[in-house]
Amino acid sequence: MSVTCVFGMQWGDEGKGRIVDLIAAESDVVVRYQGGANAGHTVIVGDQKYVLHLLPSGAIRPGVLNVIGNGVVVDPWTLLDEVEELKRRDIDLSGRLLVSDRAHVIFPYHKLMDRALEALRGDASIGTTSRGIGPAYADKYTRDGLRVADLLRAEELRPTLLRNLTSRNEILRKAGLEPIDPQQTLDDALAVGRRLEPYIADTVTKLNELWRAGKRILLEGAQGFALDVDQGSYPYVTSSSCGVNGVGPGTGLPPKAVQRVLGIVKAYTTRVGAGPFPTEDVGPAGEHMGVRGKEVGATTGRKRRCGWFDAVVARHAVRTQGVDATALMKLDILSGLDRLKVCTAYEIDGRRIDVPPASAAHWRMCRPVYESLPGWREDLSGIRRFDDLPKEARAYVRFVEAQMGVPVETISVGAERARFIDLRPAAARA
Ligand code: IMO
Ligand code: MG
Repeated sequence: MSVTCVFGMQWGDEGKGRIVDLIAAESDVVVRYQGGANAGHTVIVGDQKYVLHLLPSGAIRPGVLNVIGNGVVVDPWTLLDEVEELKRRDIDLSGRLLVSDRAHVIFPYHKLMDRALEALRGDASIGTTSRGIGPAYADKYTRDGLRVADLLRAEELRPTLLRNLTSRNEILRKAGLEPIDPQQTLDDALAVGRRLEPYIADTVTKLNELWRAGKRILLEGAQGFALDVDQGSYPYVTSSSCGVNGVGPGTGLPPKAVQRVLGIVKAYTTRVGAGPFPTEDVGPAGEHMGVRGKEVGATTGRKRRCGWFDAVVARHAVRTQGVDATALMKLDILSGLDRLKVCTAYEIDGRRIDVPPASAAHWRMCRPVYESLPGWREDLSGIRRFDDLPKEARAYVRFVEAQMGVPVETISVGAERARFIDLRPAAARA
């Protein structure tokens, strides 16, 4: 299929980078369409580990074109650092990275505003990544934002930056942070614009040309569906549309261009930052997942909260995003747990619900309804065929699959590229 969207079905960190890297081998183009440097997509090749924040995970595959679509909020300094870092590691992106001229720019003041707003929220803070994501999207929608194309024009930048900084500096002072120097900001922005210029392009036109030419396009979602600004656990979410719903606005491709939607789910659940998490396990099982699964944030280094697989969240992603198939990640991490729980519904005051609630207050009242399944002890990392998995692991996969209502087509049993089980029928493999 020539246009595939891969997105996370939970609270992020599902293993999207790992799967995008696999599919990138059979793609011409990989596109980020939303979010920004709040993402931390990890690809492990042999003994090399790459953590990508803004670059699409196709960067690691030679010959793949990487596009940062118009829906991404771009921190140009972070992006150029990533490009430099890959260059040091002999991965050259010249000629195969395009950054949308319509993408909005994250300036240092967006990051400071992120911290200021979090401080002002007090106990209700979201636990953002401090990458400036919310303030940059807010500026876009209040129409105070600046686009990548504007970085090349001092006459465009100056008045908007000055106007924005006047009001933002007041908020920064209120939160006890240092105000920003407008002239310095302007000089830095123009300098970074010059460095970014070789990559700046009209990606909307380019992507539409590639699509019409039948090129294999892979759309890489960041964050996860439970962090989606509309469908997630609002207000404990990010500020973009993280599923296939973000593709049209974030790329300029017609939504109907997407032919296949692959949802990525971890075999258990993690979340970083504050907010409801009905299946969180703060006991030994959660500890097992955190330690064995190395559940530490790739962007912020924070410890991830861990818990059981939540079919309510996964089914909502399947229902609203038209998921065709899923990749089940980190199954190997569950080895050694005696019993495994899967949340099949929530209960609020004794009433069962099957859809994530609308308000944070109701989210907090949700009690998970669990099904308990037997665990297994065997190490799964060397297994490449479904039939070779312990029977308890097979039963667990089939149970989770039935709960989601869509096929599991890949099972990851280790972080390294080759450690997965392909469940697709032979005819569907490359
Ligand atoms: P990847 O793409 C996990 C979380 C933050 C916070 C909330 C809002 O690696 O899966 P933001 O900085 O976006 O305003 O923070 O969203 N969050 C993520 N959690 N993985 C991510 O990305 C995330 N990006 C944002 O922890 O709770
Ligand atoms: Mg991450």
